[in-house]
Amino acid sequence: MARKIGCLTGGGDCPGLNPVIRAVVRKANHEGLEVIGIRYGWKGLVTLDTMPLDAQSVSGILPKGGTILGTSRTNPFKDEKQLAQVIDNYKKLGLEALIVIGGEDTLGVAAKFADKKLQIVGIPKTIDNDLSLTDYTFGFDTAVNIAMEAIDRLHTTAESHNRVMVVETMGRHAGWIAVYAGIAGGADVILIPEEEIDLDRVCDLLRKRHSRGKQFSIVVVAEGAKFKKGEVVTQENKIDEFGHVRLGGVGHILGEKIEEKTGFETRVTVLGHVQRGGSPTAFDRVLGTRFGFEAVRLILEKKYGVMVSLQGNKIVSVPLQQVAGDVKLVDASLYEIAKVFFG
Ligand code: F6P
Repeated sequence: MARKIGCLTGGGDCPGLNPVIRAVVRKANHEGLEVIGIRYGWKGLVTLDTMPLDAQSVSGILPKGGTILGTSRTNPFKDEKQLAQVIDNYKKLGLEALIVIGGEDTLGVAAKFADKKLQIVGIPKTIDNDLSLTDYTFGFDTAVNIAMEAIDRLHTTAESHNRVMVVETMGRHAGWIAVYAGIAGGADVILIPEEEIDLDRVCDLLRKRHSRGKQFSIVVVAEGAKFKKGEVVTQENKIDEFGHVRLGGVGHILGEKIEEKTGFETRVTVLGHVQRGGSPTAFDRVLGTRFGFEAVRLILEKKYGVMVSLQGNKIVSVPLQQVAGDVKLVDASLYEIAKVFFG
């Protein structure tokens, strides 16, 4: 009987998931392993929703965004019955190991199942780049490039109208997308969750710039950025199965305040899910391919309970248990570089 491994993608989708799935399947087949795709993240192991994955099914998916497996934010640890179903179905499928591609939440669940003796290898993904123990996650580079292009485009319309343009990026409680896209796009102010927003200072910077003869400005703000002594701005009160609220809206509040205080006409663009869509960059395709290859290699070595990770330019593995619960924030030294260009 063929040796079988499973593969699932959980949490928010991001560009690069399909290159990982393709690499997992191609490397596994090369080594004589069969791959079963679990559909819609952990939900697929609760309901036993699977699809066969072979060279044919992954053909042509390398440049495609999203995930051919589908995804969900299902947390089986919220419900004893679901938890038991996952373990039962893992056994029913006759899996030798399971590759779990996800962010902090999905990998947190993976770590708990690894404790329950499921043989798991994790692969880190998120546009937010906020996972600890890896220098980069795939999806981030694509999101940054999309945001940078948006900033480039906003420059020309801002300049024609002498306006301040506020651009709100995703990133949850870390400012990676905002800082990278802001530096790459030449933003005049970048605001991130790692440092409270000082509105007076922001307005001073904009006035200073305008007094130098520049009639327009670009302000990038990460969705998780907070005003002094304020709370994060949320879209609604609902929380998901992992206890997260939907962030978003800080850009509009900021835009209103800037216009009110400076008198500069201001417009706001919320980039939203555009940052998660479309074709992955070359960097994300290559990183995803390396991660997928390495995850299968670790299974062949029977090394479980680990996550593949990029450290420097090397792919290594780290214990899954150490990954969850620790958000990787923007380095102060990187933000210092960004600040040189403020105002
Ligand atoms: O974690 C990725 C991310 O895109 C965050 O940047 C954002 O806050 C969140 O997911 C949005 O989630 P949803 O797709 O559920 O709206």
